[in-house]
Amino acid sequence: MFNKRIKIKDLLKMEPGLSGVVVMGWVRTFRNNQFIALNDGSTNANIQVVAELGQFDENTLKRLTTSSSIKVIGNLIASPGKGQTVEIHATHIEILGDSDPEKYPLQPKKHSLEFLREIAHLRFRTNTFGSVFRVRHSLAFAIHKFFNEKGFVYMNTPIITASDAEGAGEMFHVTTLPIGKPPVNENGQVDYTEDFFGKATNLTVSGQLEGELGATAFGDIYTFGPTFRAENSNTTRHLAEFWMIEPEMAFHDLEDNMNLAEDFIKYIIQHAVDNNLDDLQFLDQRLAEEEKLLPTDKRSEMGLLEKLNFVLTNQFERITYTEAIDILLASPAYKKKKFQYDVKWGIDMQSEHERYLVEKHFKKPVIVTNYPKDIKAFYMRQNDDGKTVAAMDILAPGIGEIVGGSQREERLDLLTQRMNEMNIPTEELWWYLDTRRFGTVPHAGFGLGFERMVLFVTGMTNIRDVIAFPRTPKNAEF
Ligand code: 4AD
Ligand code: MG
Repeated sequence: MFNKRIKIKDLLKMEPGLSGVVVMGWVRTFRNNQFIALNDGSTNANIQVVAELGQFDENTLKRLTTSSSIKVIGNLIASPGKGQTVEIHATHIEILGDSDPEKYPLQPKKHSLEFLREIAHLRFRTNTFGSVFRVRHSLAFAIHKFFNEKGFVYMNTPIITASDAEGAGEMFHVTTLPIGKPPVNENGQVDYTEDFFGKATNLTVSGQLEGELGATAFGDIYTFGPTFRAENSNTTRHLAEFWMIEPEMAFHDLEDNMNLAEDFIKYIIQHAVDNNLDDLQFLDQRLAEEEKLLPTDKRSEMGLLEKLNFVLTNQFERITYTEAIDILLASPAYKKKKFQYDVKWGIDMQSEHERYLVEKHFKKPVIVTNYPKDIKAFYMRQNDDGKTVAAMDILAPGIGEIVGGSQREERLDLLTQRMNEMNIPTEELWWYLDTRRFGTVPHAGFGLGFERMVLFVTGMTNIRDVIAFPRTPKNAEF
């Protein structure tokens, strides 16, 4: 019954003259008891369906309310109206599902993003979220395409693990033990041998460690999956559940890693520009309108599409952490005490520092390398200076850190020494250390935060608006 449906996106590109065309979708508006703006989610553009006066019974017409779902059969003809080239003259209209206009929370008017977050189950039906989530899809597809074309193996790393890949202790525990009265051992501690897996487990914070196992067999792998962090950061850039893409490459050093990351980011942006131009144009306009409400100095210097094209045609800036700190120390912002947090060699740069570098100083994406070892994870390769590691973060305008990565410490002695210094249990990670025991190789990888990438490409400003159902502190609705 439904398989002859034509998607509105395709229909709008067809020549007039077709008869017996079948479309289905949700009514956006119904004007003058005659004109239906119908949307099916394939594009923000609606098809105009004309229900000629006197042709349809009153009861059907009355039920054509916002968000009611209908099936239409009709003839595709050239549209005399403005804003569309074709429209459908209906011969048959069937109501599939009613929508009570008194109760339906979305009206054909502008709603705030905050309000839409509260009805996240319905917000896909708005133009903004239609565009955001089609672009999100397109980026996900491009990611697989990029790595597939380069011969990477897509690897699914575990979601439940017993290790803390980042060593930062920001994990959600996974247990079936009774919360109120867990079994305890002689030392009075929770006895995890009684637990489901026989040991303490948690949701993964990163698939990297398992990814390295794959890379040291296949050469090049990537993961693309959900990761979980119980960091209590209620910001516009942090989620407790986010998606991460983590490529890991054998026989790569830090420079190869940076080159791949830059090519990768440009490739997926280009894919979105090539395949989702109408959505990006819509988001570009949306952003421009939104920014009109801001004071001039808070507005972006470039429009969304202009920014994306700029990123595509310019090389990312590459500087060391030490150079970054020197730039910050010499900046007018620092001298005028505009930074809330102090700047000195050794600090973990705050987002105000990162944003100064990309938005004010370089005005483009920046790759910062060779961070102090004390602020980075145990697995990063130690540089000869004894102070820094072969890390790289990519900072993007408007976002801050979008990628974190490094060359990995492939030398067993140095790795175990560093793990001991940082209290990372070497016995539990015996399997990880085996890669260094049996044919160790120089290797590198990085993690791209998918939602931060979607923010960058869509010009949205709150990470809660680029994932379908955000998980943040005190919020797990839907
Ligand atoms: O810098 P991170 O913590 O690096 C890792 O997890 C490494 N294991 C990656 C690797 O080398 N394979 O996280 C990587 C990226 C960040 O740059 C950021 O874009 C994103 O993941 N990210 C978050 N995105 C949303 N919400 C959060 N709470 C995030 N934490 C990190
Ligand atoms: Mg990081």
